[in-house]
Amino acid sequence: MFEVDAPDVAAKSQAGQFLIVIHGKTGERIPLTICGYDRSKGTVSFAFHEVGKTTKGLGLLNQGEFIDNVTGPLGNPSEVKNFGKVLCVGGSVMIAPMLLQVKAMKEAGNKVTTILGARTKEFIMMENEAKALSEKVYVATDDGTKGYKGLDFLKELLKTEKFDRCVVMGPVILMKDVSEITKPYNIPTIVTLTPIMIDGMGMCGVCRVTVGGKMMFGCVDGPEFDGHKTDFDQLIIRQRTMLPEERLSSVLSEMNGGCQCGRNKA
Ligand SMILES: Cc1cc2nc3c(=O)[nH]c(=O)nc-3n(C[C@H](O)[C@H](O)[C@H](O)COP(=O)(O)OP(=O)(O)OC[C@H]3O[C@@H](n4cnc5c(N)ncnc54)[C@H](O)[C@@H]3O)c2cc1C
Ligand code: FES
Repeated sequence: MFEVDAPDVAAKSQAGQFLIVIHGKTGERIPLTICGYDRSKGTVSFAFHEVGKTTKGLGLLNQGEFIDNVTGPLGNPSEVKNFGKVLCVGGSVMIAPMLLQVKAMKEAGNKVTTILGARTKEFIMMENEAKALSEKVYVATDDGTKGYKGLDFLKELLKTEKFDRCVVMGPVILMKDVSEITKPYNIPTIVTLTPIMIDGMGMCGVCRVTVGGKMMFGCVDGPEFDGHKTDFDQLIIRQRTMLPEERLSSVLSEMNGGCQCGRNKA
């Protein structure tokens, strides 16, 4: 998790919005969701998984160093008001920005139940922070190494407990599964879509998603959308469009021992 000095961004940031970060003079633009901001300090925070060239390069930075460019806040803020009982589901690294939403929902008077999910226990983070902000916290992992195994427990939970809204941030498959589970109960379910983005400002069209049969731009129409109307399968296919190039770029960068900013792991 990084906290960066960016007073202009911090002044306007709200839960649900994202940043476009550029690392290295010729680095690509990568979107990362805001997971905190401190207007008095002028800082904004984000958390990321090191999955490819840019995020691995960012991971090599030490405290006090510079990122070439942090643009934001981009996208629309989350709709936060007193809905009543809200179920917040955060998956893997997206648990961090989800907790900003949990905090905002609590401050708006909601009773919040939080689910922290991940593939394995190593990817469950910020459990104590979640407990401090939520009425109840459930943990679930795909392999059962921590908490419930899979999401079957959620199906059981919804049989006995009523929620007025559900918010999900995490891997696409998690957002799809939760949306399918909440649909029969008519719980409005909001998901944060993560299509490939370039400008993040509605100009390139790369972030096209289909919601309710309509083409939308993830960056300016979202990133939050109705999970019951989202075409997740199309999103999964579109996210993989650049996979061969991304793998090649990551391998080449590792062969060079560093990243595009010229930094060397050694
Ligand atoms: C609105 C939004 C918010 C996001 N928030 C977070 C976050 O808070 N934390 C986090 O770890 N990740 C987040 N992501 C995903 C993050 O942007 C990618 O992991 C990152 O771009 C990977 O770049 P890379 O060079 O390290 O890896 P690459 O090897 O380039 O890509 C790895 C995977 O990341 C995805 N990806 C690659 N480039 C982009 C791009 N320009 N835009 C979107 N996805 C891309 C692809 O699915 C790809 O398969 C978010 C994505 C979006 C669209
Ligand atoms: S990222 Fe270019 S239009 Fe959305």
